[in-house]
Amino acid sequence: MTPIGSEVTLEQLPLSEDLRGRSPYGAPQLDVPVRLNTNENPYPPPPELVAEITADIAEVADTLHRYPDREAEGLRTELAGYLSTATGVELDMTNLWAANGSNEILQQLMQAFGGPGRTALGFEPSYSMHPIIAAGTRTEWVPAPRRADFGIDVPAAAALLRERAPDLTMLTSPNNPTGQSIEPAELAELIDAAPGMVIVDEAYAEFSDRPSTITLLAEHGHKLIVSRTMSKAFAFAGGRLGYLAAAPAVVDAMRLVRLPYHLSTLTQAAARAALRHADATLASVALLRGERDRVVAGLDALGFRVVPSDANFVLFGEFDGDDGAPGAWRAFLDRGVLIRDVGIPAHLRVTIGTPEENDAFLQAAKEITP
Ligand SMILES: Cc1ncc(COP(=O)(O)O)c(C=O)c1O
Repeated sequence: MTPIGSEVTLEQLPLSEDLRGRSPYGAPQLDVPVRLNTNENPYPPPPELVAEITADIAEVADTLHRYPDREAEGLRTELAGYLSTATGVELDMTNLWAANGSNEILQQLMQAFGGPGRTALGFEPSYSMHPIIAAGTRTEWVPAPRRADFGIDVPAAAALLRERAPDLTMLTSPNNPTGQSIEPAELAELIDAAPGMVIVDEAYAEFSDRPSTITLLAEHGHKLIVSRTMSKAFAFAGGRLGYLAAAPAVVDAMRLVRLPYHLSTLTQAAARAALRHADATLASVALLRGERDRVVAGLDALGFRVVPSDANFVLFGEFDGDDGAPGAWRAFLDRGVLIRDVGIPAHLRVTIGTPEENDAFLQAAKEITP
């Protein structure tokens, strides 16, 4: 059956001019034996957590005729507790805001502090959603370069920030897809140089040894915002829960742009259960770091160039042959291993999985040497 209306294509719609020709975010979701392409934690929630989420959802199910707690107060209080313990910085509910994944957090931030006539600057290559969210909020995206080794040239970057004076500066640490963290002293220098708001995207913070940027919040006041997620180390990607830590006035700004009741009762209940089991879930972080080092050593031994990583993924190359990175990506897929072509010439990114998945990846890599 031909679906109703299917004679009309996207190009024929009266689409907003600035969305014409753009591509949606689209990591392939393919059903293959080894999926190492979206930086999730490979370990499913432990049975005790599954039981607790099930019980907590059952408990709130008979309240679903009512809207959720619009302020998600219980969840924000518990997120503040988690962050205070993890970073040693005292935070309370008024410093925290939560949304459906950190993508929604970033979108709300750009809605509030970006928009028509405003600019957001990021150092590329970095997380591909930053410019997409900028486009969706009609914020002009200003791409700034990284060095050839994918690090940030801090003096040059600071000078650029002073010159361009973006309304929003996006710093990603550890950076996706390249893996490096920005050292705290360098972060402080960049934050000082940026005249506008600074968002530090710390989606992978739990995998890094570096202190969180949250330790810089007190000295930078309202201008610094740290974005976090439960999708990665917390093994809660399907639950969709992102959050930020910032000055209470920034949280007030989020209330101006959020949709009413944006965080469902079910999401809030499941996320709170996941936070109660943080210790068990985060125990996998040490394991994944060990596996990351093993994968790096394995790739190194096979003659690949591996970019040092502080996260749960590794960027490697260089695929200089005729087919380059796309050809190598396909060769991994042909061997049942789905990794990610992030659009960096000659490089691919692999997420760290279980030891068995990493073995399968390294076995495939052996057959696809650079
Ligand atoms: C750097 C970075 N920020 C944010 C996100 C968004 O994650 P989520 O919306 O699942 O919290 C991702 C996901 O891959 C990411 O890599």
